Amino acid sequence: MLLEHPLVKKDITVLRDKKTNTEMFRAAVTRISNVMAVEISTSFSLKEITVETPLEKTKGYRLQQDVVLIPVLRAGLGMVDGFLQIIPDAKLGHVGLERNEATLQPNTYYLKTPKNLSKAEVLLLDPMLATGGSASAAITFLKKRGAKNLVFACLLAAPEGIKKLLSEHPDLIIFSAALDRQLNKKGYILPGLGDAGDRTFGTL
Ligand code: PRP
Ligand code: URA
Repeated sequence: MLLEHPLVKKDITVLRDKKTNTEMFRAAVTRISNVMAVEISTSFSLKEITVETPLEKTKGYRLQQDVVLIPVLRAGLGMVDGFLQIIPDAKLGHVGLERNEATLQPNTYYLKTPKNLSKAEVLLLDPMLATGGSASAAITFLKKRGAKNLVFACLLAAPEGIKKLLSEHPDLIIFSAALDRQLNKKGYILPGLGDAGDRTFGTL
């Protein structure tokens, strides 16, 4: 699903601009993540409950399932605040993956999630879907942990990454803030925004 929102398009432009500094970059990622969290959560199921107002009892709601956010380290961490501002009681897991710049294969260095993910709404967060190797490895791991209701949220997606991800995980729902043209020879997204981790953490 492509996030079609004027404010998102404006902020994706902020992210693409090479003149955008770290502070502005983080703030734009957070704003886009706010909109994305609202959009993704429209499909969440509710449980009816009773709530007591100062005057009387009435019908109310709570979320049926736990929500678990899984940022892919490092760059996915930049999206966490924006999601937590909208879903403040979400739990968090972490998947540490680093793409080998020569082979473009993901190397896993950290995995920690709540134990049983089978009943949760699991949202995998990573700003960049390039070759799809990292996201696909993360989804495979989360499925082994029992995850069934899985959504992948990214900021920029390359057609190559979408194709790979859906061929390996046809049941996956992908939300992206923009769909880019292609990858270059080094596996970078074009037109892209450069290295999301470096721009988020100022390690350029
Ligand atoms: C980036 C990005 C994704 C991955 C996408 O992370 O945040 O995790 O590359 O590329 P792929 O779709 O080809 O796998 P990177 O490996 O550069 O690590 P970092 O977040 O620590 O900078
Ligand atoms: N990872 C990034 O951070 N940027 C890209 O363009 C591709 C992968």
